[in-house]
Amino acid sequence: MDERDRLRRLAALDRRHLWHPFTPMDEWEREDPPLIVERAEGAWLIGVEGRRYLDGVSSLWVNLHGHRREEIDRAVRDQLGRVAHSTQLGMGHPAPIELAERLARIAPPGLTRVFYSDSGATAVEVALKMAFQYQIQRATARPEKRRFLALNLAYHGDTLGAVSAGGIDLFHQVFEPLLFSVLRAEAPYCLRCPRGASKPPCPVCSGEEAKAHILARAGELAAVIVEPMVQGAAGMIVQRPEFLRKIREACDAGDVLLIADEVATGFGRTGRMFACEHAGVAPDILCLAKGITGGYLPLAATLAAERIFDAFRGAPERDRTFFHGHSYTGNPLGCAAALASLDVFEKDRTLDALQPKIARLWRELGALRDLPHVAEARGLGFMAGIELVKEKAAKTPFDPALRMGRRVGLAARKRGLAIRPLGDVVVLMPPYCVTEDEIAWMVGVVRESIEEAAGTA
Ligand SMILES: Cc1ncc(COP(=O)(O)O)c(C=O)c1O
Repeated sequence: MDERDRLRRLAALDRRHLWHPFTPMDEWEREDPPLIVERAEGAWLIGVEGRRYLDGVSSLWVNLHGHRREEIDRAVRDQLGRVAHSTQLGMGHPAPIELAERLARIAPPGLTRVFYSDSGATAVEVALKMAFQYQIQRATARPEKRRFLALNLAYHGDTLGAVSAGGIDLFHQVFEPLLFSVLRAEAPYCLRCPRGASKPPCPVCSGEEAKAHILARAGELAAVIVEPMVQGAAGMIVQRPEFLRKIREACDAGDVLLIADEVATGFGRTGRMFACEHAGVAPDILCLAKGITGGYLPLAATLAAERIFDAFRGAPERDRTFFHGHSYTGNPLGCAAALASLDVFEKDRTLDALQPKIARLWRELGALRDLPHVAEARGLGFMAGIELVKEKAAKTPFDPALRMGRRVGLAARKRGLAIRPLGDVVVLMPPYCVTEDEIAWMVGVVRESIEEAAGTA
């Protein structure tokens, strides 16, 4: 069977049996041919038909150092030669132990305890439950502090706790009857300022409004949960560092835990190891997933301050245990990949090597701002979002039925760039191993694809 026949066969089987996440399946079934990835090298994906595509969103924001990175491949193979999985319930394993020590060492100060799970959503679920139970069991019990405050347009994953904290109507509204109610603060979406300010700062993006809101409701709040510095799934909405600092101040003053969801921003994505570092803020609980394994395997970690852990100590019959866990919690293969990824950070001085590439990305993106349908190119580090609009001056969105973001994605695919938009925000989040030439080429492809999709070519 030649490569084209194989692609046709796989596509037919996919259409018959698969249900893809976040995918309108009728539209997917019409995609001809779909991209089916056979293998990958560095920043490039290779389809079963043999074509190469630059992995412009790092396989949905997870890949860091590139695909088939020798050291990570080897670490997983070596681990496989010992054991693929053994449970964390009632026993240990070297890889998760070593990784916990490494994570505690590189995390913002004070986060000494590591609780493993297997996806960003579960890392968040763990954080919410931990914060809730902490308030009940802490030395001076505060069981009335049982609510959460999250930002508008937040995205924390797709399990029900994470969806409750989420604030993107398109994804979350249908599940409303299943969710617990969460207090909300405005997101600093300056392009469409929720307070109508014509230029920043306003009380929203300065963090003053969120601070006042947290302080006013502190008596009932267990925790505030935020995606620090960048609200990714909302379309790369960037915060000013003082926004995060004000939230930290309010949490301190109000005796409220701060949960930082760095599932998307962690492990160098914003140019620092963790996004909280841009604001000099340390959360009480930190959620990590996606890039933790360098994009190899599903693994997540929720890091907590020692005083939170202490509230769960006590004789077993006192029922202070944290009753949460998953079959594959702390999977050794994932932990081995994560340790190897952290070694690569040290060996390659990845964060230093990334800085000129970040500068190049933003120089190239600067040139897109003149396009008639680009309202804004925004982001931080290697997280970029290009918001498309029908009318630039009035910031009028395209009719959603036009699927403009998706059209741009398909036009880019034809040119050898694999990207996935968020609505009409074109997202670029390449692996850190891309070269400056590849960055320039990628942004050039995006320009052509926007022009083609919007019919201005
Ligand atoms: C900030 C944030 N939290 C949580 C998640 C959910 O992660 P996962 O898809 O691994 O469950 C995501 C995914 O995009 C995310 O961006």
